[in-house]
Amino acid sequence: MSKIISPHGGKLINRELTAKEKKAYEEKSKSLKSIKLNSREISDVEMIAVGAFSPLEGFVGEEDYENIIHNKRLANGLPWTIPVTLAVTQKEAVQFNEGEDIALLDEDNSLFAILHLKEKYSFDKEREASLVYGTTEDKHPGVKYLYDGGDILLGGEISLLKRQSYSDFLQYRLDPSETRKIFVERGWKRVVGFQTRNPVHRAHEYIQKCALEVVDGLLLHPLIGETKSDDIPADIRMKCYEILLEKYYPKDRVFLSVLPAAMRYAGPREAIFHAIIRKNYGCTHFIVGRDHAGVGNYYGSFDAHYIFDEFEENELEITPMFFDYTFYCKDCEGMASYKTCPHSSERHISLSGTKVRELLRAGKMPPPEFSRPEVAQVLIEGLAEREGLNYQI
Ligand code: ADX
Repeated sequence: MSKIISPHGGKLINRELTAKEKKAYEEKSKSLKSIKLNSREISDVEMIAVGAFSPLEGFVGEEDYENIIHNKRLANGLPWTIPVTLAVTQKEAVQFNEGEDIALLDEDNSLFAILHLKEKYSFDKEREASLVYGTTEDKHPGVKYLYDGGDILLGGEISLLKRQSYSDFLQYRLDPSETRKIFVERGWKRVVGFQTRNPVHRAHEYIQKCALEVVDGLLLHPLIGETKSDDIPADIRMKCYEILLEKYYPKDRVFLSVLPAAMRYAGPREAIFHAIIRKNYGCTHFIVGRDHAGVGNYYGSFDAHYIFDEFEENELEITPMFFDYTFYCKDCEGMASYKTCPHSSERHISLSGTKVRELLRAGKMPPPEFSRPEVAQVLIEGLAEREGLNYQI
């Protein structure tokens, strides 16, 4: 049996109640005060419960919160870069007392989890925006979410009573404990994780395969939780991957699964967050390319590389694999990057998102050097079906 990397903090968190505990809580919950959560918060609860956010056992309290935003660490010193918080309005907060259990309701008002409320605290949204997202502009989707939320944070452990009943991507929804088991069964000692929220193009494929050259297996882990409304929907992105895997990837070296977490668009801080999450899923390596988890022009192209230098060697335990800007070069006659290609950028084929969008909308294929024709076809059909919606690529 091969050994597998330890989860962040040493232990895979499991906050799902046993059948007996669930029954007891279902009874008790009738007398509890409740909060209705939005889709990001529901996803956060599930990610915490299954250990994807290990070592978090709930929404962070004030001491962790302050340490995360200022020092990129939890209060105990463990690296952690994004505060996972539950914000409520002042009006809601006054009803709740520290020390009590609160019923957490999903979007159908159905009880699905309990918050064991430990503390209530106020926070400065602009300070969080500028420290975590590097901007206070509400044009930034992560900052907008923050500003739109309540002014009081509730901290405390959660207990999950009921998973959401999903009808999509069922065979791809694996918990960290399950991917860990699969990697061990396959005998993969070194596994590289790939985070993505965009349709796969040749540059993605190139960096995934470069990484796979030096490890045993690749976890393709598209994020399918909440993304901004103009990102390409997850079902279209997954179809692209299915077609690509069928034709161009070695089945015994690649594992496709989904990450049901919400995107924050926090660039460099989210690169660390994404790496830690993939460590919890059992990855030893993690790909960080150009403008990882970026949006607009808020981050430098390689800020998500530099942030790893703020941690001690091996402190994160998962090894980042950094990639420069990659493209097809006509003179190299293949995929390359600024690190490996000596030719002029005029010889490179790399299209802007706007250009690709124009082509796809007009039903035209982008050049095969940019996007595999099979993938472009799925995108053209997918976009045509949802005509009128303005997606970014
Ligand atoms: S992200 O928000 O999930 O980072 P995306 O799905 O576009 O967006 O990127 C997935 C990964 O591929 C990220 O690590 C990103 O840095 C990397 N990447 C995307 N395009 C390129 C490119 N042309 N060159 C190098 N890396 C890239």
